[in-house]
Amino acid sequence: MKDASPAAAPLEIFLSDYTPPAYLVDTVELTFKLHPTKTRVISKIAFRPNPEATDKTFYLHGEDLTLIRASIDGQDWKPYATEHGLTARVPDAPFIWEAEVEISPSTNTALEGLYMSNGMYCTQCEAEGFRKISYYPDRPDVMAVFTVTIEGDEKVKLSNGNDLGDGKWHDPHPKPAYLFALVAGDLVNLHDTFTTKSGREVDLNIYVRDGDLHKTPFGMDALKRSMKWDEDVYGREYDLDLFNIVAVDDFNMGAMENKGLNIFNSSAVLASPDTSTDGNFHRIETIIAHEYFHNWTGNRITCRDWFQLCLKEGLTVFRDQQFSGDTRGHAVERINDVLQLRARQFREDNGPLAHPVRPESFVEINNFYTATVYEKGAEVIGMLKTLIGDEAYYEGCDLYFTRHDGQACTIEDWLKCFEDTTGRDLTQFKLWYQQAGTPRVKVDEAFQDGTYTLTFTQSTPPTPGQDTKDPRVIPIAVGLLNDAGEEIHPTKICEVTDEVHKFRFTSLDAKPIPSINRGFSAPIILEREQSNAERAFLLAHDTDPFNKWEAGRALARDVMVRMVTEDATPDQAYLDGLVAVARDDTLDPGFKAFCFSGPSNDDIQQALVDSGVTPDPTKIFLTGQTLNLSISQAVQDLLPRIYAEMQVTGPYSPKVEDSDRRAWGNAALAMLSRLDGGAQAAKQYETADNMTQQLAALGCLLRAEVGENQNQAFYDQWKDDRLVMDKWFAMQVMHAKLDKAAPKAQAMTQHPDFTMTNPNRFRAVFGALGGNVAGFHDRSGEGYRVMADALITLDKINPQTTARMTTVFDTWRRYDADRQAMMREALERIKATEGLSGDTTEMVTRLLGG
Ligand code: TRP
Ligand code: ZN
Repeated sequence: MKDASPAAAPLEIFLSDYTPPAYLVDTVELTFKLHPTKTRVISKIAFRPNPEATDKTFYLHGEDLTLIRASIDGQDWKPYATEHGLTARVPDAPFIWEAEVEISPSTNTALEGLYMSNGMYCTQCEAEGFRKISYYPDRPDVMAVFTVTIEGDEKVKLSNGNDLGDGKWHDPHPKPAYLFALVAGDLVNLHDTFTTKSGREVDLNIYVRDGDLHKTPFGMDALKRSMKWDEDVYGREYDLDLFNIVAVDDFNMGAMENKGLNIFNSSAVLASPDTSTDGNFHRIETIIAHEYFHNWTGNRITCRDWFQLCLKEGLTVFRDQQFSGDTRGHAVERINDVLQLRARQFREDNGPLAHPVRPESFVEINNFYTATVYEKGAEVIGMLKTLIGDEAYYEGCDLYFTRHDGQACTIEDWLKCFEDTTGRDLTQFKLWYQQAGTPRVKVDEAFQDGTYTLTFTQSTPPTPGQDTKDPRVIPIAVGLLNDAGEEIHPTKICEVTDEVHKFRFTSLDAKPIPSINRGFSAPIILEREQSNAERAFLLAHDTDPFNKWEAGRALARDVMVRMVTEDATPDQAYLDGLVAVARDDTLDPGFKAFCFSGPSNDDIQQALVDSGVTPDPTKIFLTGQTLNLSISQAVQDLLPRIYAEMQVTGPYSPKVEDSDRRAWGNAALAMLSRLDGGAQAAKQYETADNMTQQLAALGCLLRAEVGENQNQAFYDQWKDDRLVMDKWFAMQVMHAKLDKAAPKAQAMTQHPDFTMTNPNRFRAVFGALGGNVAGFHDRSGEGYRVMADALITLDKINPQTTARMTTVFDTWRRYDADRQAMMREALERIKATEGLSGDTTEMVTRLLGG
């Protein structure tokens, strides 16, 4: 029977309604009697009234639990439970709650709570999954010491904290329920140790299924480097004797920072040269670092409520980006991060799903693990650091770690630490957390009597629920060059605080050439009239590597936009610029590869939308083909030499020197393949001794539509490796052109190796369909139909992954009337599906603008 209480309706929750918990928890004892369909969970929880509570109602969350028995202070008790939890009259004094529930992990395809993946038990509790394991105050501001007993025949039984033997675990650090984890299965492990700066030896393990052990050493190395980095840079030491990582095949996200027991999507930890690309190695290193860094930014200091999610996520992304920069070079890392930011966060910020870094309300918190909370959240930390300087930044962090250790905090707590150490008022800065939308900053320049004046005018377009915005503080790094390409002024941080804000540079001999927003010091859209000659000049001369690349990208965008809108031919100055980059031996190969990667279809669309033109994805795709061919022809003579010089000899290493060479070499191969019909790519496919080279070659062949044999050979070679098969599935859909993409995605769902229950496999096919912009938006509307059908099917199995995937529709208002109508119809069809999950309902409602 359906619950008729108001709690059953999807409830919008507001930040402003926060109240402290009525009861706090000192200790929790959990016993798990594992069984695929009838797992028993026995809980013993020591509650005490919270002196700071205003509302005294005792409430425990609980979902999909069968209550077997419950007692309060040993007295049997029959509670009244709804679909979402239970409430009771309890003593206004400390008491012991005991309960036993039954759950069914093997039928839990949502992958939240306790579930099974390939015969192994595992958990995912963030954000609100613990309530599917036990009745509990499942909110991050209730922190408790957990003791766990796991009963079952499995060889390996893990939980948080210290191993007491016999499946018993104790975590001395009080934590919220979302950081609870349990794993049990017949696993094998790679063991290592790390000695902390104060000399404590920590045992490290990576647990995997039998057969995957050879894919663990890289992750282990990344873990040890992360531990060292956090000591060196933030002074943060690990705080338990044991740190375990487990790889799980069925997982909704990348990984999870459970205290002392990180659980990873196997795609985010398992790496080997044969099966992983350079890109995979990079991503794995980043995610390992990210989850490890959460130990301090997330676990020791957690969030008061889920509105504060960016407190841990934005900061931890910022930290993992710093780590990657230190490890792999800051210039290329920054370009990479900004590419991601623009592709995902700017898109989100400029569409129907726009929300502040700290949202003010939500229905389903799972839907707010977004690029805005994560990536823009990280940008906000970066701006804070730029504004107050490195020293003050680390001083403020130190204060945060000492003042708030063991607490559940807010953005206000975080900012206060920096106000206290710097004496600076951060009220205006806080707008970055409160206002949605990407600021536009218009730049005007004037030069008179040796004085150069830059005038910045800021505005932010309306976003859902926020019609008007106040001016923010925007740190814009500016450099000045003379026309010989020399720096004539040290890079200055212009702190734009007003709507219109002027900055003067005096005693100059001539009008300088400005390099604005160096290093992408603020996540904004610059609006500036700039000639292609000036862009080409900056591409050649800017000493700031980010802006050097940015100038080339702006040039490429302009060239593409004019080709699309005016049927212009590829601009010769741009082609010459690229030839110069290709020839320049002082540039590193990774940078060159970025310069040649060109703007994405989505990038061009955003540019068109900004200039009031309705984008046609098909035309953009075809124009991109033309431009790519012209670029290939322009550098044709150089390609054989570049390709030959970039070949890496010796055993594969993911190190940046090698991976950058492969990136540039494979960019050259892609260009060659447009000219030689894939001959060189076929050779590379034959001789490749690592996945990066093999997959790059296959991609070139499929793009040239000549790779049928290699495509089959690849399948035969790798059919037993799930992670490689995900790549193969994605490749089929990625390289299907225009009207072939949707039927291909549809066909792939009929392949014997396709399954709806594995999020990686689903994303391989349907993420690739969404990413194949021209294919997804093919004017037939088949892309929309196939996607909607798949999402409707997946929603019954895995609402969280379905809801995330609906974002492929978030640009629907950009397009012509026909495409808009077809996308709206697809969204409305999803929305009208009977029994649609709350997660997906919230997303499609917001997408439709409701
Ligand atoms: N906290 C995780 C991270 O950023 C994110 C995460 C992993 C997550 N699994 C999840 C969030 C499931 C929501 C639901 O590292
Ligand atoms: Zn995180």
